[in-house]
Amino acid sequence: MNGRLEQATMIDIDALAAIRSESRILDGVNLTVAEGTVTTLVGPSGGGKSTLLRCMNGLETFAEGSVTIAGHRLSAGAQAPGDLERIRRDVGMVFQSFNLFPHLSAIDNVTLGPRIVRGMAPAEARSRGLELLDRVGLARFAEARPATLSGGQQQRVAIARSLAMEPLVMLFDEPTSALDPQMSADVLEVIVELARGGQTMVVVTHDHAFARRAATQVVELVAGKVTRAGPATEILAGGPG
Ligand SMILES: Nc1ncnc2c1ncn2[C@@H]1O[C@H](COP(=O)(O)OP(=O)(O)O)[C@@H](O)[C@H]1O
Ligand SMILES: [Mg+2]
Repeated sequence: MNGRLEQATMIDIDALAAIRSESRILDGVNLTVAEGTVTTLVGPSGGGKSTLLRCMNGLETFAEGSVTIAGHRLSAGAQAPGDLERIRRDVGMVFQSFNLFPHLSAIDNVTLGPRIVRGMAPAEARSRGLELLDRVGLARFAEARPATLSGGQQQRVAIARSLAMEPLVMLFDEPTSALDPQMSADVLEVIVELARGGQTMVVVTHDHAFARRAATQVVELVAGKVTRAGPATEILAGGPG
């Protein structure tokens, strides 16, 4: 990490290009995210938002440029497996589909990572897991299986599971797009609370109200290029939602 004379840079993306089927689906993307800030990625479907997010934690490779995130550097081409493991410990990701383990209770979903990856003692993992479920409003549902929970509740378990690894950065890819408005509101409230707590986050969302409320910066991606970037008041002014 850099010195802390000024707000530290948590993510620095430089001239990133990703090529799939011979087309440049990301092209010359530059993006800087300061520690403790919230960036929302907006733009039309197919613009490259998911690909950019997935390049940030090594889920996808890129052809040109570099990504520095949470003190790790990813360069063009494949990363070493050990590096990817380290990056994913520090960079949490929450997807549109919650991907919880269906045979495990909420609390077991949350404690699995700390126990397996960090080798945390079961009792400690459990007490911290319960705190996290409380933080996302689900303390009562610790023993519930995912199938018995609503979509919004499952997504909040998924957020707690990601937080259990104490990530330096959280990436969200349309975390509410599979949810009805009330469930979306509950999930977004959790994300707003995380923002208040200083969690560095990048959130792909079509929810302009959320972006206006929580975003430090809004970045618009169109056809693989950053077309606009700035505060929500500037970028989303007059837009719908
Ligand atoms: N593996 C792939 N092969 C070919 N095209 C891809 C691949 N992954 C993504 N794309 C294309 O890249 C573009 C950006 O996709 P994506 O990052 O999912 O955009 P968004 O999340 O903004 O909707 C789309 O046109 C998509 O079809
Ligand atoms: Mg997408």
